[in-house]
Amino acid sequence: MVRIIDAPLAADPVCETRPRAQWGALDAAKARGLEFTADVKRETDALYEMVEHVIPPFEWPAYAPLIAAINRLKKQKNAVILAHNYMTSEIFFCVGDFRGDSLALAREAAQSKADVIVQAGVHFMAETSKILAPGKTVLIPDLRAGCSLAASITGADVRLIGERFPGVPVVTYVNTSAEVKAESDVTCTSSNAVQVAEWAAKEWGTDRVILIPDEFLAKNVAAMTKLKIIAWHGRCEVHERFTAEDVRELRAAHPGLVVLAHPECPPDVMAESDYAGSTAALANYVEKNRPGKVVLLTECSMSDNVAAAAPETDFIRPCNLCPHMKRITLEAIYDALVEMKHEVVVDEAVRVRAKRAIDRMLALPKTAAPLDFETGLPRADVTVI
Ligand code: 13P
Ligand code: SF4
Repeated sequence: MVRIIDAPLAADPVCETRPRAQWGALDAAKARGLEFTADVKRETDALYEMVEHVIPPFEWPAYAPLIAAINRLKKQKNAVILAHNYMTSEIFFCVGDFRGDSLALAREAAQSKADVIVQAGVHFMAETSKILAPGKTVLIPDLRAGCSLAASITGADVRLIGERFPGVPVVTYVNTSAEVKAESDVTCTSSNAVQVAEWAAKEWGTDRVILIPDEFLAKNVAAMTKLKIIAWHGRCEVHERFTAEDVRELRAAHPGLVVLAHPECPPDVMAESDYAGSTAALANYVEKNRPGKVVLLTECSMSDNVAAAAPETDFIRPCNLCPHMKRITLEAIYDALVEMKHEVVVDEAVRVRAKRAIDRMLALPKTAAPLDFETGLPRADVTVI
């Protein structure tokens, strides 16, 4: 059963959804010789307004010195911070230069004019940035920021799959290593998975597509197409925890609740939800529709970030954290910029082949908004290998 934090976060400073404070880490700024001075207050007052719905005033002096120092370092080093929607709010709003889902961040990396990209996200996102922007220094603030999907499959696995199904295109979710992308025909994200799978089938002249490594994403795509999908048994450790029973219990406890799901959720969760899509699609839905009461079946910090644009919406907060995303903290970003660590390096031969797969995805017609997933659909059969 999913755990719900129902109290407003600012009223509950030890809430598990806000590990960024980590209570011991409140001294992180001081340990780095950074103080909450009058200058720092002046520099950061406007930023605080964007996060005051989640960060109580007494916590701000712990974050503000790091935020001010990071923003100065970015200017000095011509650096940008690409912040994924799962970042905690003080990172997302106060130091992030570009914010969005993994597709939007990849597009931004490809066109950025900065010399340095700091990826406030997980390792596969930083690798994607390096693949698309090889001349730039790409930093990941914590090397342990992995992903259970990326860890579920290797390049050698993909080579074997390709040999087993000759003539069937390999469509690979971006939540994978550079090595895996290099063995793939085209990548996709949750913003375009159906579009990419249908394009690949047409291009390869087949009705079968290998869609790896997320088993649930593959099943959710299969429900929306007539394609025969061959899937891998990878799972997102955050989204696999949601169940259809959770959705029914939430609806019973919160009449009028609008349920939004990420397509890494199991198909029976998608079937019970009102709307589904990438992290950006979920954020757009809330901003546009302003539901009275909503639950986002995805990572915890999303609700904090989306709440900024929908102050009148009541967020029911499932407490599923991505431990990898939460490795990225203000102090880790500060240290990364000061010490120029940890630089992401991709072998050139691998990079070129991985880029071909990503470029095919980026060359598809850009949609005005991330594509929705249909919900309420019956299950579709897929072959899981
Ligand atoms: P998005 O592409 O929807 O941002 O998802 C990335 C991710 O890691 C979801 O768990
Ligand atoms: Fe990977 Fe899941 Fe974390 Fe996204 S939420 S980075 S898919 S483990």
